[in-house]
Amino acid sequence: MSDEPLILVLDEGTSSTRAILYAFDGVVHGSCSRPLTQHYPAPGLVEHDAEEIWRETLACGREMVAQAGGPRRIAAIGITNQRETVVAWDRRTGQSLHRAIVWQDRRTADRCDALRAAGHEADVQRRTGLLLDPYFSGTKMAWLLGQEAVHGAGEALAFGTVESWLAWKLTGGEHVTDATNASRTMLMALDGREWDGDLAEMIGVPTAALPRIVGNAEQVGVTSSEWFGAPIPITALVGDQQSATIGQACLGEGQTKLTLGTGAFVLTNLGQRKPERPGRLLGTVLCDVGGVRQYALEGSIFVAGSLIKWLRDDLKMLLSAGESEQLARSVPDNGGVFLLPALSGLGAPYWRPHATAVIAGLSFSTGRPHVIRAALEAISHQNVDLATAFAEAGAPWADLRIDGGMSANDWLAQDLADMLGLAVRRPADVETTARGAAMLAAVGAGLHRDLETAAAAMLPPSRSFEPHTDVAARTRRLEGWSRLLAGTE
Ligand code: G3P
Repeated sequence: MSDEPLILVLDEGTSSTRAILYAFDGVVHGSCSRPLTQHYPAPGLVEHDAEEIWRETLACGREMVAQAGGPRRIAAIGITNQRETVVAWDRRTGQSLHRAIVWQDRRTADRCDALRAAGHEADVQRRTGLLLDPYFSGTKMAWLLGQEAVHGAGEALAFGTVESWLAWKLTGGEHVTDATNASRTMLMALDGREWDGDLAEMIGVPTAALPRIVGNAEQVGVTSSEWFGAPIPITALVGDQQSATIGQACLGEGQTKLTLGTGAFVLTNLGQRKPERPGRLLGTVLCDVGGVRQYALEGSIFVAGSLIKWLRDDLKMLLSAGESEQLARSVPDNGGVFLLPALSGLGAPYWRPHATAVIAGLSFSTGRPHVIRAALEAISHQNVDLATAFAEAGAPWADLRIDGGMSANDWLAQDLADMLGLAVRRPADVETTARGAAMLAAVGAGLHRDLETAAAAMLPPSRSFEPHTDVAARTRRLEGWSRLLAGTE
């Protein structure tokens, strides 16, 4: 076996935890994936077991270290994660104090309404690039503080997003987060390097419980020997959507990616230009490498792969996710069916946290393929609305690079191209999120000079879907979609 050094990426997403081994030339040497239990205790509530996240991440990591032939072959670890999800733990015991509150969770919608009614939204948006929505971590932390087990931990209380929890566990006590994850809390100014005391006070979060904010490509600690048999440096922490943007080599201003994972997230690189008027989009940190901060404009769609999973697992309308492509192709159009996928409210550009899902236009001629096709079409409809919002915010899309599990659906890739009137490019390896973290970890470990060099060495080829738009059909669809949105205000 070759002894070429490898990079281990731990990619802790919403639906599963993965670990992938990369060589410096981007070749994948192994991967492991384990599903994560979703807890839905009541409508609008979504929780994860933080101990399960840790257990499954460690198990995947160990499997990859064994596959690499031992810890000494791993030059560096990069961690990328579902963002905004909050873990509360006790620094003395290292145990989580409550189930993690997942980014999709809507329990703080009323709290956000109250902050808006008190006139805080404009200030929050100006400072953080975010809107007052339960999506972000800050109000979730404030809610957790109201729980006896969390409150009772006193000075031992630690809060963190998922990368922070994993880094703490792996290193045996480094309490760190990175600038991309911090930019999703509503507790850090977009160009801040520390927590913003005014925002923390307004939202009700003690900054003493928060981690130290670090850059995206630097050593944040080494793993305790007990986990992998020898210490391994952790040289990158990064939120998954920012990581996918880097893994798609959207390193220049205006370059745009769409990741179709549990949710669907569009990010456009803005370079070092801080987003001034994001409108109904979000301003976010894209990365902070060597002290240079870059920004992105983001459109967050809350439901994408999770819609297909729900149709398959709960409504039993699909045998497999792959069957959705076959069914969509089996009918000439949606048969008048439209689907509003508001299973966890609606994100950008609508921001309707109280919205619920709707399937409209049903008749006796409706079959399973029409409903499935309407579900896939809803992804394109939301992206058309996002494209308009990006153009209005001064960041029109020149082309679109797609990735994530659902991007393997050729019908959807072509539908996006047709509905957007844009070329849509898809890399041969759609696990772009993990690849971005591998690039950052390589830079953080000094193995590649910068992200451009890492991209040149590590990126796979891509395929292009060219638009062939049927203008009348596009208009009919967008009118149906607008009617559905208007009818559910
Ligand atoms: O903001 C939430 C996002 O980070 C979740 O990503 O890949 O689990 O859909 P994913």
